[in-house]
Amino acid sequence: GETGLLDTFGRRARDLRVSLTDRCNLRCSYCMPPEGLPWLPGADLLSAEETLRLVRLAVRDLGIDEVRFTGGEPLLRKDLPDLVAGTSALLTPDGRRVRTALTTNGVGLDRRAPALAAAGLDRVTISLDSLRQDRYLAITHRDRLRDVLAGIDAALAHGLGPVKVNSLVVRGVNEDEVVDLVRWACTTGVELRIIEHMPLDAQGAWDRDAMVTADEVLAQLTAAFVLEPAEDRGSAPAERWHVVEDGTRIGSVGVIASVTRPFCGGCDRMRLTADGQVRSCLFSAGGTDLRGLLRSGADDAVVADAWRANAWAKKAGHGSDDDTFVRPDRPMSAIGG
Ligand code: GTP
Ligand code: 5AD
Ligand code: SF4
Repeated sequence: GETGLLDTFGRRARDLRVSLTDRCNLRCSYCMPPEGLPWLPGADLLSAEETLRLVRLAVRDLGIDEVRFTGGEPLLRKDLPDLVAGTSALLTPDGRRVRTALTTNGVGLDRRAPALAAAGLDRVTISLDSLRQDRYLAITHRDRLRDVLAGIDAALAHGLGPVKVNSLVVRGVNEDEVVDLVRWACTTGVELRIIEHMPLDAQGAWDRDAMVTADEVLAQLTAAFVLEPAEDRGSAPAERWHVVEDGTRIGSVGVIASVTRPFCGGCDRMRLTADGQVRSCLFSAGGTDLRGLLRSGADDAVVADAWRANAWAKKAGHGSDDDTFVRPDRPMSAIGG
């Protein structure tokens, strides 16, 4: 209704992305330094109960109908199945089931997929930037490629799909693997999305000229395959194509060009950080602290008003490809992917 998470540009948030921890068991070089980051103290994190209170409120009063759990690495939370179960049991005011998704690096997913599926999780997106063991190790600083591949198999086996795989392409590291990744994804039955690196790494090392652009990726793909445009993307960040080889559709591929072709105009997202801030954009300078409100005994109406005010202040776009761009006050691992 008119009380949802509207902004001054007429956009309405429906998709809530809930970060459950800023911690991670990998150290992807484009995200955080090898030694890790000063993690949030445990007492700063929302409890599962607090998180579910906010999710319930967002669904009941604020128009949210899809919830994605992210991190850091959300599988590090032992109570993830409880969070999923509490969320997927919710109905929207017009009686639809809330859809749930998980963005994960896939480590340990093979063991946890059964419980997550049983809790009602609809689908997963797994991050995987290389299929070569030495390269995977060089990128993530952990020798976990086999675990991730087992996690992808488990996601498929437990119907957590359509299963998507995110690959971030870094120049001089894995840019020569794009075609191999697409062919592997088509064979495996997952949808690969190739992602442009955004200036959200903790080290501040992002470099516009080093970034592999969507155009470069598409040039590689069109040299190897025929790409047929897929259906209208709606508010989704990925531009999608059917992949055709030797006259046969073998699967589909997406490209997420956050930097060179921003999709902010159709944005329907809202974010909740692990320590209870809401942020209307991945690139917001700061957030609105709902944890403070919860812990000071505020009732739902007060929390909802603070949340609506945050949405109303949403900017038109992130401008990460402009000279005047200002980085947010936190890296992506502490906002949510
Ligand atoms: P579905 O299409 O619903 O499966 O989800 P999604 O595409 O939002 O998936 P995911 O969470 O895996 O996000 C994929 C990538 O899109 C991220 O790794 C980011 O690079 C980018 N992305 C996600 N959210 C935003 C956003 O709010 N703004 C921008 N600019 N990029 C985003
Ligand atoms: N820019 C774009 N995507 C990023 N990811 C992590 N850091 C960045 C960044 N700076 C991606 C990961 C994962 C998802 C959660 O976010 O590769 O797929
Ligand atoms: Fe962890 Fe994701 Fe960052 Fe890699 S990109 S270190 S998996 S939070």
